Amino acid sequence: MTSNTIEFIFNNEILKISNPDPNETILNYIRLKLKKTGTKEGCAEGGCGACTIVLGDLVDNNIQYKAINACIAFLPTLNGKQLILVEDLISSEGKLHPVQNAMVKFHGSQCGFCTPGFVMSMFAMYKNNKSLNDEIINDSLSGNLCRCTGYRPIIDAAKSLNKKSDNDEFIRFKKKTINLFKKIKIKNIEIKKENKKYFAPNTILKLKNILKKNPDAKLLSGGTDLSLEVTKSRKEIKKIISLNSIKELDFINNKKNEIEVGAGTSLLKFEKFIKKYYPDFNSILKRYGSVQIRNVGTIAGNIATASPIGDTLPLLLSLDTKIILDGPNKRELIPLNKFFISYRKTRLKKGQFIYSVKIPIYKKNIFKAYKISKRFDDDISSVCGSFNIEIDKNRIKKIKIAYGGMSEVPKRAKNTEKILINSIFSEKIFIKAIRNLESDYKPIDDMRASKLYRMEIAKNLLMKCFLEVKNKKMLRIN
Ligand SMILES: Cc1cc2nc3c(=O)[nH]c(=O)nc-3n(C[C@H](O)[C@H](O)[C@H](O)COP(=O)(O)OP(=O)(O)OC[C@H]3O[C@@H](n4cnc5c(N)ncnc54)[C@H](O)[C@@H]3O)c2cc1C
Ligand code: FES
Ligand code: FES
Repeated sequence: MTSNTIEFIFNNEILKISNPDPNETILNYIRLKLKKTGTKEGCAEGGCGACTIVLGDLVDNNIQYKAINACIAFLPTLNGKQLILVEDLISSEGKLHPVQNAMVKFHGSQCGFCTPGFVMSMFAMYKNNKSLNDEIINDSLSGNLCRCTGYRPIIDAAKSLNKKSDNDEFIRFKKKTINLFKKIKIKNIEIKKENKKYFAPNTILKLKNILKKNPDAKLLSGGTDLSLEVTKSRKEIKKIISLNSIKELDFINNKKNEIEVGAGTSLLKFEKFIKKYYPDFNSILKRYGSVQIRNVGTIAGNIATASPIGDTLPLLLSLDTKIILDGPNKRELIPLNKFFISYRKTRLKKGQFIYSVKIPIYKKNIFKAYKISKRFDDDISSVCGSFNIEIDKNRIKKIKIAYGGMSEVPKRAKNTEKILINSIFSEKIFIKAIRNLESDYKPIDDMRASKLYRMEIAKNLLMKCFLEVKNKKMLRIN
């Protein structure tokens, strides 16, 4: 069944909108149409958290709560979700929610502009965790900026929620909300609004048919890159195909020597999974944007963006990742290092999409990754280095090195690898390799970092990797 009407839960009712504008952000809809102005606009690019809202989703008969940035999410993506705004936290008797009470008690608000965003991030954290610790709190709040109160009182408020008894309105109405979720059938959505079209197929087969007829359409996964064309570049996206309703793209398969991650898997889901195999991959993802960004952003979106500073890319390259492309013809398995052509250009042809990402599991190898950015949290890399080494009897049997931020595409350091392979694992050979990095890269020069700085950092990261492995000790400031 195909419909032009999106349906979502709001205030314990199902709300329907026919032919919503595919380029309208959820933030604009909330503030201008619902007239709920508690949710604020700060940056309009997902960086400050002032617009944080929470979306409820029915997963295995339970409601999962996701904090997202409403400023960079398009309205039709609300289909099938529960929309929760800061105004909805107060109980029907007019009582503040425990997270709001905590902010009052610990003086977590001064001018108040950032407060609704913090409250919503804290609310999602409160609902999703049985107990809290510093890591969960810092992670949950790292996507929200405050420019006057300072963070200590806000963090104190979050810490005070630790011994919670979760009996808020959302528990009281849980059964009713689950029943409402079940009433919304996830249909194939096709919207035509003025000169714009939006498709949200619910199967891969339907996706392929739509792509065949609309090869010029833009694919939308988390939208954390694509939506900025509208909110920042002020362009119109005429045709969008959302991949968010295709359950077949949201999976992680774990085979013996390989993990396969579906294109639609959120970065947050992937980061939890990958920790067991590659803890450094998890650490890099923890510093990737914010929880709001990683709740929706996908690994396939990061790959297709092909940014020279895309954080997962050097890590995936050093792990010799392959990707599966699907489309009008047969599925194609290609090595990731053959996918990037030039600045933000890839081998993806019209009508094709990334189906999945295949990451080998190296049981014997040492895997290290480092991200250098101006700010620790919620910032994009200046340089990101990743190293995958197999050492046998103090000899480097195999090594794969890749950097982001060092050329127009993320790329392996193949010349440097040649120097290290089959050599004794020693400081001498690493010093030689470090000098050689200049033959692999001509770094980019931009406002984030100069080319000189980037080269120096890349060299230092390779030496840091050597020292950490040699001394079996982490050399990190966290
Ligand atoms: C505030 C903020 C912070 C950020 N921080 C970081 C960071 O720390 N590190 C980092 O690397 N990036 C960061 N980004 C960039 C962004 O999150 C990534 O590029 C992201 O991975 C894009 O994934 P997405 O699912 O949101 O893609 P979308 O925005 O939906 O799509 C991005 C591009 O990929 C294409 N695409 C999406 N899915 C597919 C598919 N399955 N097949 C083919 N093409 C597809 C789209 O058509 C589009 O061209 C940040 C962005 C914001 C707004
Ligand atoms: S307004 Fe800054 S993150 Fe949305
Ligand atoms: S209270 Fe003013 S910005 Fe946070």
